[in-house]
Amino acid sequence: MISQKMMEINRFIKLLSVLMFVLSLCMKLTSVSATEVRCIERERQSLLKFKHDFVDEYGLLSSWGSEEVQKECCKWEGVLCSNRTGHVVFLHLDASLPFGRLHLKAKLSPSLLELQYLNYLDLSHIDFGGSEIPKFFGSFMKLRYLRLIDSNLTGEVPCELGNLRNLHTLDLGYNDLRINNLECLSHLSSLSYLGLTGVNFVNQTSWLHYITRFPFLKELDLRDCQLPSTVSSFDIFTNSSLSYLSILDLSSNDLTSSFTFHWLFNISASLTKIDLSYNQLEGPIPDGFGELIFLEELSLKNNKFHGGIPKSFGNLSHLYSLDISYNELNGPLPDNKKLNEFHPQGLGLPSSLQRLDLSSNKFKRLPEGIEKLSELRVLVMASNLLDDTITESYLSNLANLTFLDLSFNSLVFNLSSDWIPPFQMQEMQLSRNHLGPHFPNWIRTQNSLGQLDISFAGISDILPDWLWNMPSLKYLVLSHNNIRGQIPNLPSNLVPLGTVDLSYNNLSGPIPLFLFHYRNLQLSNNMFSGSILHLCTIPKGISMLDLSYNQLAGELPNCWMNISDHLIILDLANNNFSGKIPLTLGTLDQLLVLHLRKNNFVGELPSTMRNFSRLIMLDVGDNKLTGNVPAWIGTHLTSLKFLILRFNEFDGIMPSTICRLNNIHLLDLARNNISGRISRCLNNFTDLVQKNSSSIKDTGSLEFNFFYAPDDFYLDNTFVQWKGQDLEFRKLLRHLKGIDLSSNKLVGTIPQEFAALKGLVFLNLSRNHLTGNIISNIGKMETLEWLDLSRNQLSGEIPNSLADLNFLSVLNLSYNNLRGKIPSGTQLQSFNSSMYAGNIQLCGKPLAECPGDISNGSATDQEKGNSFEEDDGFMTLGFYICMAFGFITGFWTVITTLVLKHSWRHSYFNWWNNVGNWMYVTTTIYLRRLKRKFLA
Ligand SMILES: *[C@@H]1O[C@H](CO)[C@@H](O)[C@H](O)[C@H]1NC(C)=O
Ligand SMILES: *[C@@H]1O[C@H](CO)[C@@H](O)[C@H](O)[C@H]1NC(C)=O
Ligand SMILES: *[C@@H]1O[C@H](CO)[C@@H](O)[C@H](O)[C@H]1NC(C)=O
Ligand SMILES: *[C@@H]1O[C@H](CO)[C@@H](O)[C@H](O)[C@H]1NC(C)=O
Ligand SMILES: *[C@@H]1O[C@H](CO)[C@@H](O)[C@H](O)[C@H]1NC(C)=O
Ligand SMILES: *[C@@H]1O[C@H](CO)[C@@H](O)[C@H](O)[C@H]1NC(C)=O
Repeated sequence: MISQKMMEINRFIKLLSVLMFVLSLCMKLTSVSATEVRCIERERQSLLKFKHDFVDEYGLLSSWGSEEVQKECCKWEGVLCSNRTGHVVFLHLDASLPFGRLHLKAKLSPSLLELQYLNYLDLSHIDFGGSEIPKFFGSFMKLRYLRLIDSNLTGEVPCELGNLRNLHTLDLGYNDLRINNLECLSHLSSLSYLGLTGVNFVNQTSWLHYITRFPFLKELDLRDCQLPSTVSSFDIFTNSSLSYLSILDLSSNDLTSSFTFHWLFNISASLTKIDLSYNQLEGPIPDGFGELIFLEELSLKNNKFHGGIPKSFGNLSHLYSLDISYNELNGPLPDNKKLNEFHPQGLGLPSSLQRLDLSSNKFKRLPEGIEKLSELRVLVMASNLLDDTITESYLSNLANLTFLDLSFNSLVFNLSSDWIPPFQMQEMQLSRNHLGPHFPNWIRTQNSLGQLDISFAGISDILPDWLWNMPSLKYLVLSHNNIRGQIPNLPSNLVPLGTVDLSYNNLSGPIPLFLFHYRNLQLSNNMFSGSILHLCTIPKGISMLDLSYNQLAGELPNCWMNISDHLIILDLANNNFSGKIPLTLGTLDQLLVLHLRKNNFVGELPSTMRNFSRLIMLDVGDNKLTGNVPAWIGTHLTSLKFLILRFNEFDGIMPSTICRLNNIHLLDLARNNISGRISRCLNNFTDLVQKNSSSIKDTGSLEFNFFYAPDDFYLDNTFVQWKGQDLEFRKLLRHLKGIDLSSNKLVGTIPQEFAALKGLVFLNLSRNHLTGNIISNIGKMETLEWLDLSRNQLSGEIPNSLADLNFLSVLNLSYNNLRGKIPSGTQLQSFNSSMYAGNIQLCGKPLAECPGDISNGSATDQEKGNSFEEDDGFMTLGFYICMAFGFITGFWTVITTLVLKHSWRHSYFNWWNNVGNWMYVTTTIYLRRLKRKFLA
């Protein structure tokens, strides 16, 4: 999931990246001059041939040419010559950018062979169109560096590469390559760096044996290589051939404990960095790590280790980073505990630790000794089962702590409010612990604090004013507490800031202007009152505004063009706003989600709203809106997935353009005065036609995915009528596909086209004036769970295919003119008889037997007599079971994204702050640094 996200991020900033890259090239080109020409003609021609096959949209090779001023190929971009012989020794055309590559395409033609003196060849991130690595690469006898990372190469790694006896660095990672014969590569006796990330090692059961043939290997990267976890014999280590190996990455390989720990502790005593994350390692963490005394970084993330951290880790006096997150650690084993008694300071945690990540394990208590790690800067123990009490003395040694994440535990913080902590924190994530009932005033001392999350913390107190004076705070989440009081009206900051989430508290009073300076402002579910007309004076910058579930009133300001160019989410639902929807709201053309439901808006939907071409959710239900359902909804709001106009006073006919909403998931026009016939083109709703259509994430717009999809909150949020109940959906709405046209004045027949909607989960056409038969092929709507056609004038018999709807759990056909026998089928008989009531000519179970069918048993009872009145309150056990069954996949999607949410939020902020500078620096400096290093 993360990698998919990353790809989307890549695309998102591609444009920006290209600009940066081109800029940096321009700067370099100015230094090209045509003084003395050292370049060797044969090599120049070879390079020109390479350029000929190069699809160079970005002008990467614009300095390469045949004109007189460009003759000196030693000065071409990415080319360097020996200043003694004039031969090209260095070719580096890396098209990488911090977040992707430039999609430069090229061919690996044999003409390159002229460059016999090449020492350094790096063609990483150039797309070679899925070609194989040519065998002639084995003829660059002088090559010391060969890097072809992420170059769209496929096939087998050629044996010929084994001829490159001088090779120091070989990196072929991130391609679609496989190795069939590792033995031939094992002749690369000078190799010190080997990077084969993603190269397929399937069936190479001797991989370990051959790897140990590289005596000078310092760094080995075999990430995601499908390494076999079996090996013929382990005696290959008696001579411990990899004595220089310092950095070892074997992550994402499904390695097992019994295999790995047989050799790992003997392979090299000089290991400084080991990454074994994302494997299948299990059991207690072996003591053997404690013998790798030079170890500085160790990651065992995402395995299945249980028990505690072995005491031997205390020996690792250089270890500064330890990550054992996402395992099943639960504290010291009983026998380990005994050992600890003999070694009172044998804590398993070396005092050199600066970063410790034990998140997502099963620790019930904070591991002993953490409080003594005075070098600790980063401590992450989120998502464990901790319920200790944190006191001042526990934190008093941690003077260097800058990042603390203990969220999703049940820790009790017992810290006095005048405590002065020894640390200056930059980020504190303490959500879902007990910090209350008083507001943790000691936070006031944290002058460098940039991010603070103390949501769900049991705080029941007045919101302190000092929070707004914290100089660095850019991300503040206090939601789901019982925080009261008003927010002072402070002078406004001119620069747009980060995020403030105060939702689900008891804050009251007007919303002060300065709060609108935050990019993301969430104030929902409080008691804020007053108007928001003063919004007109804020600087542009806000991108998400949620004021829902408050007591705000008055008209909306009509100055939205001044408020933001990039508002993505606007949620004003459940307030007392009144008046017309302002015309200028239509200037928010980036809007993805608009909730205005349950206010007192009047008038028509302004035609400026046709600019909302990206809108996914339009929810204006439960207002007093009038006029026709505008035809431009279908022609202009083509991204819509949720259209909710329910409970208004819309009249006129249903516009046929509505059928252009190919992406619609939920069409809710219920409880209006819409007349005319139902459009016959409903089979145009492609997302409803498909049984398992793409989720929002696959098709939604990019920014939405990037910023907000992690919690999906604003999409999974509206009122719909579900199986007869008005329900507020706060989760899972995305998976509910339905059409509700009930309580209107629709006439005519039910269009046959409905049958094509194979993905529909509910259909409510009740309380209209529909006539004709129930469509005969209704059985094709396979996923239908709820069908309500009650209170129309439908006639004819109930079609037999209705009995084919296996998921149907709620059916209401009452008060029509249906006749004949209810088709037999287990479900149809199991519905309450009231669901067929008011059709006097209908018979058969569960109603009375039909006159023709003489069943000699007792005619049960007069069921049909006792419940003629409508049963709208339909919340049975079946309802829940049905929800669970129908949406099981949806549920897991939501849970997974929720788990990821936290880290996403965090990385987003760091990333966005740094990306500008970083990108420029990396693209310009990187090449230069490599050249310098190489020529030195
Ligand atoms: C090139 O030659 C000069 C003078 O002989 C020498 O100082 C320099 O280090 C050599 N290498 C480079 C990369 O300039
Ligand atoms: C690799 O090249 C093939 C053939 O040109 C192309 O279809 C494919 O999309 C490329 N893959 C990547 C990851 O660029
Ligand atoms: C690995 O070996 C098995 C059995 O010998 C064979 O079926 C399979 O195709 C091989 N896989 C590859 C990728 O060579
Ligand atoms: C270890 O090295 C010695 C000498 O270099 C050699 O004779 C011996 O066969 C090697 N042992 C193994 C198991 O490779
Ligand atoms: C905190 O870090 C600084 C270096 O940034 C170091 O000099 C100091 O010793 C550390 N403090 C503690 C208590 O380890
Ligand atoms: C179906 O959708 C397509 C694409 O939006 C549109 O061009 C076409 O007019 C629609 N068909 C009908 C009958 O509305």
